[in-house]
Amino acid sequence: MKKILITGGAGFIGSHVVRRFVNKYPEYHIFNLDALTYAGNLENIKDIEHNPNYTFIKGDIVDETFINKLFSVHNFDGVLHLAAESHVDRSIKDPLAFVKTNVIGTMNLLNAAKNQWMGNYEGKRFYHISTDEVYGSLGAEGLFTETTPYDPNSPYSASKASSDHFVRAYGATYDLPYVLTNCSNNYGSYHFPEKLIPLFINNIINNKSLPVYGDGNYTRDWLYVEDHAAAIDLVFHKGKNHETYNIGGFNEWKNIDLVKLLCQLMDQKLGRNEGTSHQLITYVKDRPGHDLRYAIDSTKINKELGWKPSVTFEEGLGKTIDWYLSNSEWLQNVTSGTYKDYYKKQYS
Ligand code: NAD
Ligand code: TYD
Repeated sequence: MKKILITGGAGFIGSHVVRRFVNKYPEYHIFNLDALTYAGNLENIKDIEHNPNYTFIKGDIVDETFINKLFSVHNFDGVLHLAAESHVDRSIKDPLAFVKTNVIGTMNLLNAAKNQWMGNYEGKRFYHISTDEVYGSLGAEGLFTETTPYDPNSPYSASKASSDHFVRAYGATYDLPYVLTNCSNNYGSYHFPEKLIPLFINNIINNKSLPVYGDGNYTRDWLYVEDHAAAIDLVFHKGKNHETYNIGGFNEWKNIDLVKLLCQLMDQKLGRNEGTSHQLITYVKDRPGHDLRYAIDSTKINKELGWKPSVTFEEGLGKTIDWYLSNSEWLQNVTSGTYKDYYKKQYS
């Protein structure tokens, strides 16, 4: 039985990846390593927690001794590394936390894999999951390709860029068999309500204002999280060593247009009069260093591995809203306690 380590599997994207791998690959034993920070939640993977091919391990990737021991005990065949500090606004307030987890944590995993595998790389693979934000900001035209130079603007994207560089360096220097993907903005179920879409869904439900940064004319390329999990599955199994693949939705939306669509759909689903949620839109102070536009060219993964998004944005957004409306307990649990302090500090 192959032993696969997935880091960050109690978070948003990680929980979808863990669920997919546990259910689809009974021949793998999946070890989910997660520190359970504010963003990690065992409720996200409750449905698979008793599967015989699944083990949860609570632990911090920044803890070098712990990571080395974990690798020597289990001798993993593959690593899918998703654990990260992931929110740009938090990175502006506490950049060092991002260096610790995203850079040092990734280094610890790279070293542990390299030392454990000792150059005997047959059947081994280190998969680093990253973001399109490492490429910086686009103007009105163009798309990020795999050869776009890195130009990160936020402490979050700088820390992810740094970790990407280390992964590549371990490939070049030690021949570590890695694959790397840079994906655009995800949305879907189990998304922590600090990011735009789940935050605004939660605020609309609770009749709270919708804080649009700046003039709202910032553009993101949105991808349904299960399509990202499918791409990760494909790259892990079929991607070429030492290659990078961009993953995106071919689905660009200006924030303000997305927010208007969300308001319209929420009014319909909640049985409110048309225009009710729209009145909650409030323009607030802009995010410092706010990247104007992200958009991914996914041609390489499409041509070489045959991946493309499976749902339209309207379908995906509809499913996402339905999930939040029928999981009010999950939403209430994650927005109690420390979330309230975060919200006050960020938006007051
Ligand atoms: P998330 O914040 O929802 O989850 C991160 C998970 O990592 C949490 O479960 C958390 O507990 C865990 N974690 C954090 N620090 C840890 C540590 N020191 N040790 C062990 N576990 C720790 O993040 P996400 O949105 O699911 O993103 C997952 C990965 O995908 C990240 O690497 C992120 O950079 C990347 N990514 C995210 C998006 C997006 O739109 N969310 C897009 C592209 C790439
Ligand atoms: P976010 O979900 O934080 O993702 P990222 O910054 O990683 O792209 O934000 C998506 C866009 O929405 C981004 O342009 C910032 C904007 N935004 C707001 O206008 N208001 C908010 O309260 C948040 C969280 C984001």
